Amino acid sequence: MTAVIISGLEVSASIRNELKARAATLATRGIVPHLEVILVGNDPASISYIKSKQKGAAEVGIVANTTHLPADTSERNIIELLDRLNADAAVDGILVQVPLPAHIDTEKVLYHISPEKDVDGFHPVNLGKLLRGEPCFLPCTPHGIQQMLMRCGYDPAGKHVVICGRSNLVGKPLAAILLQKKKGANATVTVVHTGTVHLPSFTRQADILVAAMGSPGCITADMVREGAVVIDVGVNRVPDPTKERGYRLVGDVDFEAVRGKASAITPVPGGVGPMTVTMLLQNTIEAAERKEGHA
Ligand code: GUN
Repeated sequence: MTAVIISGLEVSASIRNELKARAATLATRGIVPHLEVILVGNDPASISYIKSKQKGAAEVGIVANTTHLPADTSERNIIELLDRLNADAAVDGILVQVPLPAHIDTEKVLYHISPEKDVDGFHPVNLGKLLRGEPCFLPCTPHGIQQMLMRCGYDPAGKHVVICGRSNLVGKPLAAILLQKKKGANATVTVVHTGTVHLPSFTRQADILVAAMGSPGCITADMVREGAVVIDVGVNRVPDPTKERGYRLVGDVDFEAVRGKASAITPVPGGVGPMTVTMLLQNTIEAAERKEGHA
């Protein structure tokens, strides 16, 4: 079997067209969705992600402003900036790029974003609502995975989804999304992690296997059931002297081996990554619509 390649770029393009139309409707009412991004320090991956977010925002008609603070910025400085942005009625969405430098308490900063402007869906109020199945901003990467599955014809309902990795960013919220008794969910969900004994015995049971451990190429073909749908969330930089920039991006899945066994697979890059940005854009437009009482 050779897997179908699930293109996050193609799914993103079609969602972004829908978002452009929604932004255009808002524009007829004089509303331009406004996103504020805070970047602290010079982590190269964070800088690259933020460039994609800025570019995507411009493409769909969102004004995005990035405040780039030096790595030694105090926690108080960030909290004060968040106070101003929380209080500014012109701002629809606020995002603080993580990871933050070690001297900053990440929880304290993320919890300081107003839940109504938390377009990343990281605030405990939004995560709590997600767990309860109430309307809220969904975290962008897990929401993007759900959208990609649905729009490519892989409805998770009734399927066994095995998620490798229990991060707050991906594994835990994805499990919460896919186990809801709702359209695009209703799956049987297993989460495996570093404490799991004999992990391959679980991954081999997956109809849909999600790799989100942050470990390059660690899902090998023997860990995958013939015909499974494989979603690779990993974005790992591995040294590659043949590349001008000195590295290449690889996922958590041994792509070449697993594509011979899976029925469908996401590539890295061009899979989950663009979907994360697209769902951030969607949350920002939703925030602007909600504020005006349209949603
Ligand atoms: N770092 C890696 N992914 C993300 C994300 O989706 N949002 C934020 N704020 N930081 C990240």
